Amino acid sequence: MEEMKKGLEGVVALDTRISYIDGIQGILKYRGINIEELADLSYDIVSYLLINGKIPDYEETNDYSRMLKENRQINGKLIEVLKNFEFGIEALDSLRTAISCIAHFDEQNNHHTPDANKNKSIRLVAKFPTIVAALHRSSFGKEPIQPRETLSHGANFLYMLTGRVPTELEAEAMEKDLILSAEHELNPSTFSLRIAASTLSDMYSAVICGLCTLKGPLHGGARKGVMDMLDEISNPGITKDYVLQKLERKEKIMGFGHRVYKTYDPRARIYKDVARRLAIENGDTYWFDLAEEIEHIMYHEFIEIRGKPIYPNVDFYSAVVYKYLDIPAELATSIFAMGRVSGWIAHCMEQYSDNRVIRPRAHFV
Ligand code: CMC
Repeated sequence: MEEMKKGLEGVVALDTRISYIDGIQGILKYRGINIEELADLSYDIVSYLLINGKIPDYEETNDYSRMLKENRQINGKLIEVLKNFEFGIEALDSLRTAISCIAHFDEQNNHHTPDANKNKSIRLVAKFPTIVAALHRSSFGKEPIQPRETLSHGANFLYMLTGRVPTELEAEAMEKDLILSAEHELNPSTFSLRIAASTLSDMYSAVICGLCTLKGPLHGGARKGVMDMLDEISNPGITKDYVLQKLERKEKIMGFGHRVYKTYDPRARIYKDVARRLAIENGDTYWFDLAEEIEHIMYHEFIEIRGKPIYPNVDFYSAVVYKYLDIPAELATSIFAMGRVSGWIAHCMEQYSDNRVIRPRAHFV
């Protein structure tokens, strides 16, 4: 039997046309386009690109955005379900259950035609932000806020969360966050989704697999971990001791390291710039300065311990952006999923289009 690779490190499991990563040069492309270029587009356009394989023209963009807006609403039955969740339930657990509910309410749930899958993809992308905002509000006994047609995908989410129309920079930050979170080749959640899709399970079930895998602190859960860490360092004077003590205890510092990138994660660079701009707009650079200090400590400590640096990944400065957007840590993973859902759908469709069940072997010991 082949040699076993722990954590499947370096194993190539499939061909994809959706994204490309060069972990040595720090390059990420969706459908052949650099992430730096994509970050300046709208989430609607990037979501269309991922799912349909091309940048939409003017008419396609308008049609797609209109369909997303028409599908933002969630039905009263789902709102009732959300209201019945016990206070304190983790947001991602509620989101997972809510996606199961919308699958139940979708009469095309178990229809597998390309048209049915396209309809489901629009419902999923459109409803994720409404669900995340509604479940957060209902956990405080508040009524959901109706989506606003005039606002972009990201701005509308912030509006539904707080009832306040975001500033231009806040809206831009949210759009960029969703774009940067949208896709990343065979990361753990996408891989688990592709396994589900490879058994010809339906799209909602596959997305739920993705959600369950994203939750873990070594994957999407790291974003919340970073926010918690920033809170725990109650005073910048203790930052170095805090980090060094964690490393001594062999604990991971959330938001650092990556299986694929051996250099700066290109998404982290964009997030860092957005975080800096938000800090300046807010007139308060506390979170940004604290994060930058942690980055410096980690960089130099790793050179000293291992002879090579460690860099922030996508979850590090995104957490700082959330701090400035006043997003509670409990929502961090669910918001990551709101962006990632487009990439998941693209992978689900790619798996269906050229399927063979994914079934590796285990080495019996
Ligand atoms: N803090 C402290 N030490 C670290 C870190 C970290 N963040 N990342 C890696 N290391 C050490 C690790 O302890 C290991 O040391 P040793 O060889 O002595 O056991 C060495 O570096 C190699 O790390 P690894 O965990 O074997 O690497 P991996 O490729 O299996 O895991 C990773 C990659 C991202 C899971 C890991 O770097 C990690 O746990 N980071 C913290 C959690 C995190 O930020 N996750 C987000 C991942 S990126 C985006 C996403 O998926 O959401």
